[in-house]
Amino acid sequence: NNNDIRTINHLRHVDSMATMPSGAGKIPRLNAVILGEALATEENDLVFPTDEFSQQAHVPSPQKYLEMYKRSIEDPAGFWSEIASQFYWKQKWDDSVYSENLDVSKGRVNIEWFKGGITNICYNCLDKNVEAGLGDKIALYWEGNDTGFDDSLTYSQLLHKVCQLANYLKDMGVQKGDAVVIYLPMLLELPITMLACARIGAVHSVVFAGFSAESLSQRIIDCKPKVVITCNAVKRGPKIIHLKDIVDAALVESTKTGVAIDTCLVYENQLAMKRDITKWQDGRDVWWQDVIPKYPTECAVEWVDAEDPLFLLYTSGSTGKPKGVLHTTGGYMVYTATTFKYAFDYKPSDVYWCTADCGWITGHSYVSYGPLLNGASCIVFEGAPNYPDSGRCWDIVDKYKYVTRYSRKSLRILGSVGEPINPSAWRWFYNVVGDSRCPISDTWWQTETGGFMITPLPGAWPQKPGSATFPFFGVKPVIVDEKGVEIEGECSGYLCVKGSWPGAFRTLYGDHERYETTYFKPFTGYYFTGDGDKDGYHWLTGRVDDVINVSGHRIGTAEVESALVSHPKCAEAAVVGIEHEVKGQAIYAFVTLVEGEPYSEELRKSLILTVRKQIGAFAAPERIHWAPGLPKTRSGKIMRRILRKIASGQLDELGDTSTLADPNVVEQLISLSNC
Ligand code: WTA
Repeated sequence: NNNDIRTINHLRHVDSMATMPSGAGKIPRLNAVILGEALATEENDLVFPTDEFSQQAHVPSPQKYLEMYKRSIEDPAGFWSEIASQFYWKQKWDDSVYSENLDVSKGRVNIEWFKGGITNICYNCLDKNVEAGLGDKIALYWEGNDTGFDDSLTYSQLLHKVCQLANYLKDMGVQKGDAVVIYLPMLLELPITMLACARIGAVHSVVFAGFSAESLSQRIIDCKPKVVITCNAVKRGPKIIHLKDIVDAALVESTKTGVAIDTCLVYENQLAMKRDITKWQDGRDVWWQDVIPKYPTECAVEWVDAEDPLFLLYTSGSTGKPKGVLHTTGGYMVYTATTFKYAFDYKPSDVYWCTADCGWITGHSYVSYGPLLNGASCIVFEGAPNYPDSGRCWDIVDKYKYVTRYSRKSLRILGSVGEPINPSAWRWFYNVVGDSRCPISDTWWQTETGGFMITPLPGAWPQKPGSATFPFFGVKPVIVDEKGVEIEGECSGYLCVKGSWPGAFRTLYGDHERYETTYFKPFTGYYFTGDGDKDGYHWLTGRVDDVINVSGHRIGTAEVESALVSHPKCAEAAVVGIEHEVKGQAIYAFVTLVEGEPYSEELRKSLILTVRKQIGAFAAPERIHWAPGLPKTRSGKIMRRILRKIASGQLDELGDTSTLADPNVVEQLISLSNC
């Protein structure tokens, strides 16, 4: 038990592994913890949960975890169907809980969970909780951009609002399977809209409201929504952003390609801007407040198959075209609810706050669906962590505390996601924010995985600053070498996942071939994550593909490159990621100008502006490096390895440059490093 673990004061380096039966993978080191042999050395950086915390946790010890994990691997059908039975199903799934083929050579990659089961995730989030007596419990708190502006909705109130919008959408001809694009900031209307779509079986595609008109139109053109939902404007920090103008511009673009939108529903966000100055297209644009309140507050649920699509969320890949990650209903529901419950050791009295925006996967799984499925009270925060000052987050924590009046004393668990957290940031978070008392769930996962994959269960085992620790139930992470051979022990390599789990995405919208090629072809029989990992306490080392992670925002190098080359003065561009102290990674762009064009500060600014306009401000390059030429192989492939070294100043590690078509290019680039 946990007391035993805490008596370990002399920790020894051991390589002992708890080998799990039947291909379960290894749980290295955790066994060492149980046996009282956890590591010493610099790696002994283990941080134990307090006894008090562990004793009340859903999973109080490594033994309990191993017992549950073993069951989830040996008998996935039994494990998951037991959990799934706690949800409402209009009709139970077919006998086979799941089926999977992850090997392209054996036919179409195909993953199904709870197929034949008929349910509705909105019903499970709202109606079920209201029926269970939670009608008057707060479902969503809203905390505005400006201090002093807040709101809340109980489960019953939220259900009514969702039904009104659902009725409107049905009236507009939105049917099961139709797409709806949502371009909203963190207003309560954002989760309301997601849930309303789910209620009627429509497929929502939320586009983060920081994306540009071009990015928005690209997504609209891809999924051809029946309705687009937005608001007139939003206040972000001290600035007012006219979202409706961005939508207008996006719709002009989409109309050009034949994707015309009949209905654009616009929420009047009065705290940012009154409606009168909003540009309007009669016939297409409709004010939310003028129509929605007139609709009935009840709306029959559209029952859907577990494998019917729930939502699309576009994410960056290694080509310029964003990928429409498609999640279906049943497995996603079961997986997000379960990961939420265990990774945050959820208790009904908790007030839970996830700072992510619903424009990203974290906001889908851990602002909207996961918490509501558990009947939790969740905070939706519109603002920025540094407005009006950097104390805002802790003001919010204190404001929503219930237990005591002392600063941050109400905190029980902290979370981290989206990028590797470095050990010193981890320690600050732990010691300063959490008073050396609150466990940190550093959750590793992806848009594609639907929910947490490798994460601490906060009361179960010691954390290790910087490590996401061990796999969630049913997840079999493996590390492979470049040949796809599984390796283990003290090693690092490519992180793959064996088998499937309920929250896995099922396809890339409209491009199943790209789904197979990107994720299942690199290593036969495995899902390839695109990340590097070190074995032991899992240590994610960042992306190994052409994706850059800037402050947790996933950006494809190719997207930034195509934005840059759309500039009339740019002939060619190559983008790499460099380490950045605050943002994790930053974008470093090598730019070749069209012949005869001189470098200038003005041009640099205009190139950066082009990227901001085409993708969004978060994708702006940190650095533009003028490049008379780029290092290419004789077959014309840009050697990014060399560019990465130049960008990070590791000039003595350039490696072999003899295969370059023109080795002089490298010298030229180095000489321009400081321009
Ligand atoms: C990275 C965000 C280290 C990783 C949920 C992954 C992380 C990408 C962590 C997915 C973590 C996410 N530690 N790296 N705890 N969480 N990542 O799709 O590189 O926006 O592949 O999903 O973020 O980003 P995405």
